Amino acid sequence: MKKLIVNLKNYSYPVFYKKNLLKENFIIDFCKKIGFSIVIVTHKNIQDLFAKSLYEKFKKENFKVKILSFEQGEENKTRRTKEYLEDELIKNNFGKDTLVVAIGGGIVSDVAGFLASTYMRGIPYIIVPTTLLAMVDASIGGKTAVNTNLAKNLIGTIYQPKAVFLDFEVLKTLDDREIKNGLIEMLKHTLISSKKAFYDLLNAKRITQKLIIESIRIKKQIIEKDEKEESLRKILNFGHTISHAIEGSLNFKISHGEALVYGIYVESYLSYAMNYLSKKHFEEIVGFLKNKGLFQNKYKFSIDRIINFLKNDKKNILGKNQFILLKNFGKPINNVGIIKNLIVNSLSSCLEDMYVNNCNNRT
Ligand SMILES: NC(=O)c1ccc[n+]([C@@H]2O[C@H](COP(=O)([O-])OP(=O)(O)OC[C@H]3O[C@@H](n4cnc5c(N)ncnc54)[C@H](O)[C@@H]3O)[C@@H](O)[C@H]2O)c1
Repeated sequence: MKKLIVNLKNYSYPVFYKKNLLKENFIIDFCKKIGFSIVIVTHKNIQDLFAKSLYEKFKKENFKVKILSFEQGEENKTRRTKEYLEDELIKNNFGKDTLVVAIGGGIVSDVAGFLASTYMRGIPYIIVPTTLLAMVDASIGGKTAVNTNLAKNLIGTIYQPKAVFLDFEVLKTLDDREIKNGLIEMLKHTLISSKKAFYDLLNAKRITQKLIIESIRIKKQIIEKDEKEESLRKILNFGHTISHAIEGSLNFKISHGEALVYGIYVESYLSYAMNYLSKKHFEEIVGFLKNKGLFQNKYKFSIDRIINFLKNDKKNILGKNQFILLKNFGKPINNVGIIKNLIVNSLSSCLEDMYVNNCNNRT
């Protein structure tokens, strides 16, 4: 079985990858070494697609096993969903010997990981990512979280899984929109890592297994140097300061990936406006976003609401927003404080041709 190893300071875990891995017994055999009670956490809309067959396999091997599923959508990535899952575990007498199996996209792995990190002060979990975004990003690095009405991903933990299992076959049932949501995180990885990675992705006719593995490798190398996001790992937030505020401002009625398209657009513009990034490179990034069809829907943005949500960003220092900007492809800069006027102007410049609801009551 092919694998990458995520080598952290005090812990390491494998990321196995193979076409049709889910058809084999490999995951079941791996789980035997960890626990005999299994809780499969998934989304309702994909329960029949993936969780059921895994459930049958565990059952056949005499595990105690239960599927717990919740409704899809960012609006369900909440403390309430986590509480529902916790109550179900308690009601069904799942103890410390339980292993959580997260099978789904990034929302499932974020919620299931958070659940595992606090249930009985921590039980193990594994991730079977079934979206492109979850494969290249959410399943790697151990960040878990839920949203609140006031902010995105503000409540959570860093808690590493025992292993990650990638089966490329699962991508066949993903629609084009979800593939694009993964592609934007892949773009982010290239922008913060190297010129070559950016042009390789730009020139790729389709998303190959090799590109997926390369994208994971970029993230892996960053978190290996800074698991707890004390410094370097922050560069993975490129585009996310704005995108998280956009998600909140639209009451989470936009997918994470789509919000990130706007986030990368605005933060690349900020990099250019602050004289870090050349006009040529800024235009190449915008060209990527447009040519790959990443601006998928139009939204009625409110800059006032985006600015309000920026106040709750995790990275703020003394109330001031900190951005990761770009000097060049592969040359991110950490912790750039930016004055509010420039943020407002950049949001206006980038979003005004996209149904921006410009309010006049800015303070
Ligand atoms: N922890 C991290 O480091 C990290 C990194 C990036 C993003 N995230 C989080 O990930 C979330 C977004 O994840 P996502 O883009 O995977 O979205 P998602 O989890 O909402 O999945 C998208 C949709 O696709 C469905 N789906 C999943 N697999 C499928 C398949 N193979 N075929 C058909 N449908 C399928 C899901 O049920 C859902 O309806 C956000 O909440 C974001 O904050 C976390």
